[in-house]
Amino acid sequence: MSPAELKRAAAARAVGLVEDGMRLGLGTGSTATLFVELLGERVRAGLSVVGVPTSEATRRAAEAAGIPLTTLDDTPELDLTVDGADEIDPELRLIKGGGGALLREKIVAAASRRMVVIVDGAKRVETLGRFPLPIEVVPFGLGATTRAVAAAIRSAGAAGPLALRRGPDGAPFLTDGGHLILDAGLGRIPDPEALARALVAVPGVVEHGLFIGLATGAVVAEAADGQPRIV
Ligand code: A5P
Repeated sequence: MSPAELKRAAAARAVGLVEDGMRLGLGTGSTATLFVELLGERVRAGLSVVGVPTSEATRRAAEAAGIPLTTLDDTPELDLTVDGADEIDPELRLIKGGGGALLREKIVAAASRRMVVIVDGAKRVETLGRFPLPIEVVPFGLGATTRAVAAAIRSAGAAGPLALRRGPDGAPFLTDGGHLILDAGLGRIPDPEALARALVAVPGVVEHGLFIGLATGAVVAEAADGQPRIV
């Protein structure tokens, strides 16, 4: 199966976890968008749910799919969030933010009783870090914040270049919150918890893409047989 077919298989399996009346967090990215589209089919067939989108892109996809939306102000506690990931390790620790939506994704995941990650098998790693770690920062003081982030990374026993993310037009990529993203090419992250603690202590860092202790399960579609497994 192609990566796209594997993503679709994982999304379809996760749609089966949704029950009538659930309050849902709706993730961001190509896999999460497939989930939203498939969920829309169930909604149009009579399923009653409300969703909180984790990005403006997902909001548009959910509206197009006919999924009723709410906010964390009106619905501060969610039953289930379904989202993709850029990497997942055996302890269900994640790197997210390849699509730039990590801040809202983490807020929504933290407001959910369960978070199920939907990925194709290529996202599984023994040690996080092959995928560049997104770090969301405020534009003010970027130079100083970048230096402090580099020091925080070293303090956690990791190393690698920091790159300011740019959009297709070459201009700095802006998140839905109007922030910038530094992508840290670390190769491997020996102690994700230590790195997470060090990064949140840096003034100017809004959020980082390490999701630790948030995922409660994962649907992994492996290339070998294309059959999604729940872990
Ligand atoms: C969005 O910011 C990310 O966290 C995505 O969830 C992640 O990049 C996975 O995206 P794909 O499903 O497109 O691989």
